[in-house]
Amino acid sequence: MDRIQIRGGNRLNGSIQISGAKNAALPLMIVSLLTPETLTLSNVPRLADVRQLQRILQNHGVDIMVAGKRPGQNGHSGDTKQLSARTIADTTAPYELVSKMRASFWVLGPLLGRCGEAKVSLPGGCAIGTRPVDMHLQAMEALGAEIAIEGGYVIARARHGLKGAHIAFDKVSVGATHAALMAAVLAEGDTIIENAATEPEIGDVATCLVKMGARIEGIHTTTLRVRGVTSLHGTEHSVIPDRIETGTYAMCAGMTGGDVTLKGADAGHLGAVLDVMRQAGIGVDVTNEGLRIRRNGQALEPVRVETQPFPGFPTDCQAQLMALMTMANGTSMIRETIFENRFMHVQELARLGAEIQLHGDTAEVRGVKKLTGAPVMATDLRASVSLVIAALAAEGETTINRVYHLDRGFETLEEKLQACGADVSRISGN
Ligand code: EPZ
Repeated sequence: MDRIQIRGGNRLNGSIQISGAKNAALPLMIVSLLTPETLTLSNVPRLADVRQLQRILQNHGVDIMVAGKRPGQNGHSGDTKQLSARTIADTTAPYELVSKMRASFWVLGPLLGRCGEAKVSLPGGCAIGTRPVDMHLQAMEALGAEIAIEGGYVIARARHGLKGAHIAFDKVSVGATHAALMAAVLAEGDTIIENAATEPEIGDVATCLVKMGARIEGIHTTTLRVRGVTSLHGTEHSVIPDRIETGTYAMCAGMTGGDVTLKGADAGHLGAVLDVMRQAGIGVDVTNEGLRIRRNGQALEPVRVETQPFPGFPTDCQAQLMALMTMANGTSMIRETIFENRFMHVQELARLGAEIQLHGDTAEVRGVKKLTGAPVMATDLRASVSLVIAALAAEGETTINRVYHLDRGFETLEEKLQACGADVSRISGN
């Protein structure tokens, strides 16, 4: 298993190209199931999760061709993928494939919409909380599907096709909103999705669906209105920049001091994160190229933050912010409201000398003057990268084990950090 070694203390200076958003690329690839024509996606990040979803889609009969791009070409660093689901060869998404990545469960809606049936393995537990799928099933049932759960599989049927419906979610769910939207576009009649998530990745998927012939109103709002169509056609679409990757490198820059430009970043997707960074005393400027993040000797100020659905502070940046606040000039309070168990990084940050106490869903982070390198373990994607942030500022060497978590969601992390002067290397093997 690969490890990442970081010798802390270098200020980051330079520029980092932001990749396409993982959490937009995954549902966009799933959208390809909705049409027999070719969907061409550009700026698709080269990530383990993308490769895993590719296997799942291929199992359903999707042909996928990849044309690479050189880093920096056309401002993009990712792949261009052509996905063609001329026929759906298999409506089953097996346990062996779905259990590796939760988002693959989202094939349920499009398979039902296109084929009237789907058998999809329940995604199973996940390190950051219980993460049920009841709201996904609620949406499918509202659209007229009959649902049974047998042997760990969701078996869904809509013998006479899906029918438009009024879906009102009790709480905000990114995945359930994707599922409802992807199923409703081919349903007969009108669907209203209330209390929809407004994360930019959902807007990106909805925009792509409209290019494919879907009729959707209210994109980027909490009420989506869909008028079902009988078929969708192919299109070309470029994946939006990754706001979580942007926030992560912004915190790397803030943690080490220095001056980093995040090329291609979209500040409009990061309002709450940038506000918090400014409160922490970090310079944030929106430029023609993206975002410029600076801290030149100013102290890091503590903050009080709670995670919220968009446009609030994202849970996917919570661990990174906590790493940043370990060296703040005072005590920060960070409350996690989305997932009940997203604090695995706390123990690992403590190994570097961080002082963090948990009080239920709130972490009290007492800033320390210095962190010291140590061996640590990556536990999930965002927790892992929080260790990278802390290690960049720690004295001495930190070795991060189990970095396959990082590879799920950060494209060429070491190279991007090295280019700005960080002392980071990957050690392959055991
Ligand atoms: C998406 O997960 C993201 N994944 C997550 O990113 C992100 O943390 C999360 O949204 C919140 O922003 C992808 O986009 C691939 P949810 P998702 O449904 O859709 C509860 C990362 O690191 N819930 O919005 O699975 C759920 O338990 C990942 O990139 C139900 O109760 O999250 C949670 O408490 C991790 N029933 C809350 O809703 C359901 O049927 C929000 O989860 C569905 C969800």
